[in-house]
Amino acid sequence: MSGRLTVIGLGPGPDGWVTPAARDAIVEADIILGYTAYTNRIVPQAHQRIEASDNREELSRAQRALTLAAEGHNVAVVSGGDPGVFAMAAAVFEAVERGPQSWRALNIHVEPGVTAMLAASARIGAPLGHDFCAISLSDNLKPWALIERRLRLACEADLVIALYNPASKARPAQIIQAFDVLKSCRAPDTTIVLARAVGRPDEDIDITTLAKVDPSSVDMRTLVIVGSTATRRIERVGQKPWVYTPRFAGDA
Ligand SMILES: C[S@@+](CC[C@H](N)C(=O)[O-])C[C@H]1O[C@@H](n2cnc3c(N)ncnc32)[C@H](O)[C@@H]1O
Repeated sequence: MSGRLTVIGLGPGPDGWVTPAARDAIVEADIILGYTAYTNRIVPQAHQRIEASDNREELSRAQRALTLAAEGHNVAVVSGGDPGVFAMAAAVFEAVERGPQSWRALNIHVEPGVTAMLAASARIGAPLGHDFCAISLSDNLKPWALIERRLRLACEADLVIALYNPASKARPAQIIQAFDVLKSCRAPDTTIVLARAVGRPDEDIDITTLAKVDPSSVDMRTLVIVGSTATRRIERVGQKPWVYTPRFAGDA
């Protein structure tokens, strides 16, 4: 088969955070598919066609992209941040596994991007400087009981936790429940970072504590970082503190 499918990460916002390889892959594509918010970031060239669709249509978008690639097109699927982190690359491989055997012979390539937790981390110092995990709070594709269990186990393991999809209009209560779980296993002075719209003109970063955090200021454009017991703040006069997690732990 001569077609090609590249799943491309656009990073969390500014053009400067799109890798040169991602940029080249976009230029080479004939057909570009993606959620409207991401395809809107692309200025199509004369030879290119854009197929935008709703955020919740990930699997059908993946199937459409694979069908077009199987027909011989050079297809790009664009995704925010990194396409492999709670995003389109997994949807593409789910579609490949469930789809016709012929899709397994397609030329499929994943072009990485800067994921939101790395962008947020870079803005405030190095909170992910030691062991950490990432958990999506969305229960669209997994039960809430499993999310709570993973939060508890991440707490027990004393990992820094990056929370993706922390809230939406349809799920306003879950971030409150998540902070309640964390309050049962982490100290009130645990550092919490609310990084909203990182890299965008309306970027807003709040560094607070588990005791003081206001869940109502968390929305679907926010990435939450929960510090471990080792995470530290370096206070600065008139400026936000630096937040970092040292490279050593335990008896090291
Ligand atoms: C469906 S996930 C997609 C993640 C994306 N693939 C990535 O690697 O960043 C969407 C979530 O990512 C986080 N996110 C994406 N872009 C962000 C940004 N610019 N600032 C803060 N959080 C962001 C938010 O938690 C949002 O709810």
